[in-house]
Amino acid sequence: MIVCVCRRISDREIARHARAGMDFSDIQFELGVATQCGQCEGSAREIVHQCSANAPVAAIRRDPASCGGGCGCAGAAPRG
Ligand code: FES
Repeated sequence: MIVCVCRRISDREIARHARAGMDFSDIQFELGVATQCGQCEGSAREIVHQCSANAPVAAIRRDPASCGGGCGCAGAAPRG
């Protein structure tokens, strides 16, 4: 989906740069997003926030202490 109509920049392109560790200012400088009319700035910032390398990932990690071992993670109970 195009986020920045003025510069024809998609959400995927913004997300790719954010996942590479760039912050909004870096992406703005690199791609030119939100440098003309500015209507896209809020959406672009939200995408950067959601995709930044600093975004919490704890929700997708398992807690080994509470794992029953069915997933094969480090919390698996010893076998045998
Ligand atoms: S829509 Fe992004 S600067 Fe205009």
